[in-house]
Amino acid sequence: MIGATPSVFDASLSRSGGPGIGSFVDRHAPDVAFTYYGAGKVALRDGLAGLVEPGETVLVPAYLSPAVVEPFHELGLESQCYAIERSLAPDFDDLERRLDDETAAIVSVNYFGFPQPGLERLASLADEYDCYHVDDNAHGALSVDEGTLLGTVGDLGITTLRKLLPVPDGAVLYRADDEVREAFEPSPLAGPADRVAATDCRYVASSVAETILGATPSLHRSVETFFADGTDDPTTVDPEARYEAAKVPMSRFSKAVTDAADPNAIRATRRKNFRAWRRVLTDRDDVTPLYERLPEGISPYEFPVRADEPAAFRSELTDCAVVGAHSWPVLRKCVHGNEAYETANRLATDLVALPVHQGIEPSAIEAVGDRLVD
Ligand SMILES: Cc1ncc(COP(=O)(O)O)c(C=O)c1O
Repeated sequence: MIGATPSVFDASLSRSGGPGIGSFVDRHAPDVAFTYYGAGKVALRDGLAGLVEPGETVLVPAYLSPAVVEPFHELGLESQCYAIERSLAPDFDDLERRLDDETAAIVSVNYFGFPQPGLERLASLADEYDCYHVDDNAHGALSVDEGTLLGTVGDLGITTLRKLLPVPDGAVLYRADDEVREAFEPSPLAGPADRVAATDCRYVASSVAETILGATPSLHRSVETFFADGTDDPTTVDPEARYEAAKVPMSRFSKAVTDAADPNAIRATRRKNFRAWRRVLTDRDDVTPLYERLPEGISPYEFPVRADEPAAFRSELTDCAVVGAHSWPVLRKCVHGNEAYETANRLATDLVALPVHQGIEPSAIEAVGDRLVD
């Protein structure tokens, strides 16, 4: 079975004893200050808190989950969505139309672990309008683009460890710019928790259950439902509640896994799995990969495709025991169905993201390929 996330009991983790994520960051971004958080959203809030004034605006791409703007709203900022192109680059005409003296920050998003196309132009617009560039790298903790660690491209940035490792929570706030570093005042949610909490135990218990029952997709889904606290299901939780639930420090368990991880091995496996999906799907006319190339240094979060019949393709995958394929994201209410954001709406409908995490052997993907073409 191919699930959405790696398990604590994956061979890749037990083999690890690696140098940890912190030393990877130190090596690739030695001049950038960083702090661990439980969630990227809280990291965004703390990173911007000393820099912005209530009433200012923040520009975010329309192709984004609703909860991500909640920290900006907590700071009294108004969030405005800019349209995106099919390449996932900002629609620069739309973005520039929205920039004015009230703009405090522009957010870029490195979707699926790849640098957002147009990052340089976006950064120079942020300079021109004297506002902060926030590099949202939630998806690509280990992605290094031409020598630069993604998440550290802007004045400040974040990454989400929960999307990389078998952990219940975890994120990093990067502070690249001097002004951002000086203004930073960590809230009580900064840094790892000082003791083991219920989250740690529940997460390990649910991982044990998943490992025991993992071979059976239907049982796996029931166990997931049993242990789920609803935070991963955007249809049952409103964005504000989702944000409030994220206000916990990084758990001890997440910190221990983060410190033991082997970044190079994880990235290498994710890249192999990305290429395996590309091989497997190459002859399908009804499925188009979002990314043709996998540049050196990129650690893909998933293998995203546009499907002509997304629901049918997902159910085909489920029949082949791929339970971790999903659409992304549930759009904000102001974007959903709004024709000003046609591309974001189309992508949110057509996209199917296939898992590439380090708990999957490339041979398992090849085996799915044999069944899919039957
Ligand atoms: C693009 C993007 N940015 C930010 C976040 C927020 O990260 P976290 O869940 O760690 O708060 C997410 C999470 O889903 C995301 O997909």
